[in-house]
Amino acid sequence: MMRDMTRRQFGKTVAATAALANVAIPEKLPGQSVAVGQSLEFPKGFVWGCATAAYQIEGAANEDGRKPSIWDVFADTPGKTNNGDTGDVADDSYHLYKEDTLLLKNLGVGAYRLSISWPRIFPEGKGQPNAPGLDHYKRVLDDLQANGVTPYITLFHWDLPAALEGGWQSRDTAKAFADYAGYVAGQLSDRVQHFMTINEFDSFTNLGYKTGVFAPGLKLPAAEVNQVRHNALLAHGLGMEAIRASAPAAQVGLAENPTSFVPVIEDEANIKAAQRATREENAAFLTAVLEGKYTEAYLEREGGNAPRVQPGDMKAIGSPIDFLGLNIYGPSYVRADDSAQGYAIVPRQASYPHMASPWIAVGPEVLYWGVRNVSELWNPKAIYITENGCSADDVMTADGRIEDTDRVMYLRNHLTHLHRATSGGLPVKGYFVWSLLDNFEWADGYSKRFGIHYVDFKTQKRTAKLSAKWYREAVRRNAVV
Ligand code: FCB
Repeated sequence: MMRDMTRRQFGKTVAATAALANVAIPEKLPGQSVAVGQSLEFPKGFVWGCATAAYQIEGAANEDGRKPSIWDVFADTPGKTNNGDTGDVADDSYHLYKEDTLLLKNLGVGAYRLSISWPRIFPEGKGQPNAPGLDHYKRVLDDLQANGVTPYITLFHWDLPAALEGGWQSRDTAKAFADYAGYVAGQLSDRVQHFMTINEFDSFTNLGYKTGVFAPGLKLPAAEVNQVRHNALLAHGLGMEAIRASAPAAQVGLAENPTSFVPVIEDEANIKAAQRATREENAAFLTAVLEGKYTEAYLEREGGNAPRVQPGDMKAIGSPIDFLGLNIYGPSYVRADDSAQGYAIVPRQASYPHMASPWIAVGPEVLYWGVRNVSELWNPKAIYITENGCSADDVMTADGRIEDTDRVMYLRNHLTHLHRATSGGLPVKGYFVWSLLDNFEWADGYSKRFGIHYVDFKTQKRTAKLSAKWYREAVRRNAVV
């Protein structure tokens, strides 16, 4: 029957069905006379926010005593970033932070996830703190507070001070991080309640030290990569302890990007497979943090290349967290399998759709499953989606609009599946869009725009895209719109 329908007829039928669905459940908005479809509302008090990171937005690379991070060095090395782009100026948010606060205020979001630049606070990575660097963040935080926006602070979003010898290959870097994290938390705990130690272990260790696509651009053998990963975990663990000591009232967690698995079919066997894969495929990072140990299967897999662990390391790494931040962009599909591990990862077909960045496969159900898998495995007290968003080929029309309907589609569908998680009682407390504004997208430089505000990098003018207007409405109604 379908075969006989033209595409046009098919379209009409779908539209008629959708129209019927809307008519069946009309709902009027306060102050509006038009009926809209039934809205998917989030729980009262749900936190709405936007996220950024220091090196991606601040610019002011040499100001107020800041010294280079490994990203300055990497971006200055010919051939490492698209078009040779650097974060020297970026969005110039170091100077324009008040404008950016106003963007948040106009969106109506209550929260802003931003990161602190370690080389502004300790230009040499350790030793004497640099007061002007810290003063900058105090001003930013005061401005946020004056505008009713609550800060969520990331302490390490990849801009490692270049002066730290050996970088993440050195165990001493974990100790230096803890000293920095404890110091900053102590200094800012009067202004900040939520701290995240580290952003995305997987990205900066594997891309930085295994494939060499990110700073510092190394391609190390497996044993050394595993040691880098372990040092990063240790930094998180020692950082947790240091923050607890200097800011006892703070909520402390991390922002991690575990591989998030979607069962190919929602039945018992495949759902179990998704859980198993979540635990085992993330054994080097999230599983170690939440269980305080490396799984046996992981140690067996790595064999002689497994990380060297010192007494006390795993206890620190397994320090209880107050909340788990999840950065989720796209799904991995998994199915039940007869093998000993009980699951098999299903590769994406060549036709699988993606957003402007090829790595962002579109599978919005990942927001539900990403949350559900970790909840069922580890029962965290609270979960925030600390990043979700996409790049798009944004262009400004002659009359100054950016009509990023693809980004709206992406966000709307992801929030629909996040709503499934909250309505099913999973402990998701908030959601942060990546990103507040277009910025320096690491090795992609300025070629990939992730903002819900458009930035003209020549003039630094910010313009709300359609997605910003859409997000404002979602936040206002605390619902998918
Ligand atoms: C995440 C990073 C963030 C940004 C987005 C697009 O992996 O944490 O800084 O680059 O991807």
